[in-house]
Amino acid sequence: MSTDLDHARESVQHLRRAIEEHNYRYYILDEPSVPDAEYDRLLRSLQELEATYPQLIRPDSPTQRVGAKPSESFVSVEHKLPMLSLDNAFGEEEFSDFARRIGDRLKTVEAVDFCCEPKLDGIAISLTYEQGLLVRGVTRGDGFFGEDITPNVKTVKNIPLRLRGEDIPQELEVRGEIYLPKKAFETLNRDAAEKNEKVFVNPRNAAAGSLRQLDPRITATRALEMCCYSVGHVEGKLAADSQWQMLQLLKTWGLRINPLTRRVSSVDACIAYYQDILRRREQLAYEIDGVVFKVDTFDLQERLGFVSRAPRWAIAYKFPAQEEMTVLENVEFQVGRTGAVTPVARLKPVFVGGVTVSNATLHNMDEIQRLDLRIGDTVIVHRAGDVIPKVVKVVAEQRPPDAEVVQIPTECPVCGSDVLQLENEAVARCSGGLFCAAQRKQALIHFASRKAMDIEGLGDKLVEMLVDLQMVDSPAGLYRLTADQIAGLERMGQKSAANLVKAIEDSKNTTLARFIYALGIREVGEATAKTLANQFGTLEKLMEADLEALEAVPDVGPISAGHIKSFFEQSHNLETIQAFREAGIQWPDVSGQDTGVLPLTGQTVVVTGTLQSMTRDQAKEILAELGAKVAGSVSAKTSFLVAGEKAGSKLAKAEKLGINILDEGQLTELLASFGHYPGTTV
Ligand code: IVH
Repeated sequence: MSTDLDHARESVQHLRRAIEEHNYRYYILDEPSVPDAEYDRLLRSLQELEATYPQLIRPDSPTQRVGAKPSESFVSVEHKLPMLSLDNAFGEEEFSDFARRIGDRLKTVEAVDFCCEPKLDGIAISLTYEQGLLVRGVTRGDGFFGEDITPNVKTVKNIPLRLRGEDIPQELEVRGEIYLPKKAFETLNRDAAEKNEKVFVNPRNAAAGSLRQLDPRITATRALEMCCYSVGHVEGKLAADSQWQMLQLLKTWGLRINPLTRRVSSVDACIAYYQDILRRREQLAYEIDGVVFKVDTFDLQERLGFVSRAPRWAIAYKFPAQEEMTVLENVEFQVGRTGAVTPVARLKPVFVGGVTVSNATLHNMDEIQRLDLRIGDTVIVHRAGDVIPKVVKVVAEQRPPDAEVVQIPTECPVCGSDVLQLENEAVARCSGGLFCAAQRKQALIHFASRKAMDIEGLGDKLVEMLVDLQMVDSPAGLYRLTADQIAGLERMGQKSAANLVKAIEDSKNTTLARFIYALGIREVGEATAKTLANQFGTLEKLMEADLEALEAVPDVGPISAGHIKSFFEQSHNLETIQAFREAGIQWPDVSGQDTGVLPLTGQTVVVTGTLQSMTRDQAKEILAELGAKVAGSVSAKTSFLVAGEKAGSKLAKAEKLGINILDEGQLTELLASFGHYPGTTV
């Protein structure tokens, strides 16, 4: 006769198997098969059953990822095989030297295959599985001894607690990198800064800090991931003859390997791989600091052997560093369009992230205090991709005795007006408004910019000249400029002057959304301007709107509503608008479409693949204008997916989740039903 316990045992096994399968699909194959909500339900059912029948709890149950109590300290463990490091190559020449050395030793490099892998910038970890069960997670430490951090490692969601599949050696040590994806790093730091807690310098430090927690419940809150790249000690048979085969085997056992791993058969292909990954570096969800090349077959690896602590058969070909040290020579203050007085770091020039950097942003005074930054300090500068360089840390040990505390100016460095700091704002502002030449220049640059009035040829340099020579004192003044006046300016001929006057003239025919954006109201970006134009239909209605009406607009909160309202209350702004009208600025009436709610309001849409009749950005823009929220990834919340040609993983995920999918024809039809046709501009 079957008892309740028997019955529960069966359910528990069934639930565990289902959850493990979903984990594998989600973390290893990138192909989730159920929505998150369903997964959560299964996990909750399992938790409830195990709470009723604690005798059924097993160490590899999916509920046991966050079970352990805080430890007093970490125990040191000896690695059965030392965890070695890699030699580095900086630049193509050093990489070619590596390839040549291999060629010399093996008498040929032509017949050698290489396994190419991104070099993840995280923390090296060794996992031990006994009979397929995760029993130990240890840090690399000094390569010979590491720290046992098993309870913490078990909280990393893509590390299987039990391996799946066939032919698993009875003892298997797998090595790889635990890292914190960029987004998770940013969120972690943002939350920490808000709570005035310690922020991490980079994702690697954040991963290290998260793993070194004595309380695994803290580790569990960090979205850590692991990617595997080698095996250590093995008892039993490992059915692989090469690095590539070994990685494929690890994958079948449910371990994550890097999907950008490739096997190539020439040195040139290695260099092409390096360049390809370098190009994609910014788009990746995690930080990498180079690529690793490994001679693929184990027998060639054995023939090559090791020198001191690194293999001869592998090399880390590093990317240009994104972090360097330099000296903070001064802090100057810049005044922005809305008067924000922003500190800028003047640095001793340093080569970082592929360029020479001599300025870096410091955001605001809070940031200076948080960093405890003084002039004369040695600092760490970070520069990634095309992002503005940032000071991330002071090297406290190197502070000179005469390092100078940074003071915020009490007067605007440009116009001399008072600098005010409102109580609930981190930013200090120049109170000069358009009296301040810096604010005037920025207002003009914004007004003329591509997404605002789109005045071609009116660049920053020209605006600066126009303001400095007092030829233009406000955006409306642009419409009074003559070709003769402009032609008299440095480096301006008759032809370019005439072109500019024509561009200014052409900009008079605009859209309401562009005009609202061009006004430069605080907190009103391009998207908000579009929504406002759609919701109110006419400028007059927007100008008359009270706070309640403004806050009823999607994406407009109390703060932006306040800025909008006060903008239209100030007489000088009303005069400016009047001047624009008199100059002849006009836009087609959109009030006919004003129905309060937009047709796609409340819908979340994802666009993927290649479209023929428009670019993906154009499609997104139109969908957003129709009220849809355009998201970057497919989830259970997605209302529909627009899939163009060559759609990949997003399409697969949407299909799995049973989400509506529109092809280009269906999208065109949908847009046409709201009055949008391909080729028309928005
Ligand atoms: S192989 C004997 N492969 O780089 C070879 N290491 O500088 C051992 N790393 O400590 C390492 N990605 O933390 C290897 N695909 C990859 C890697 C990788 C990152 C790290 C690892 C190691 C360090 C060596």
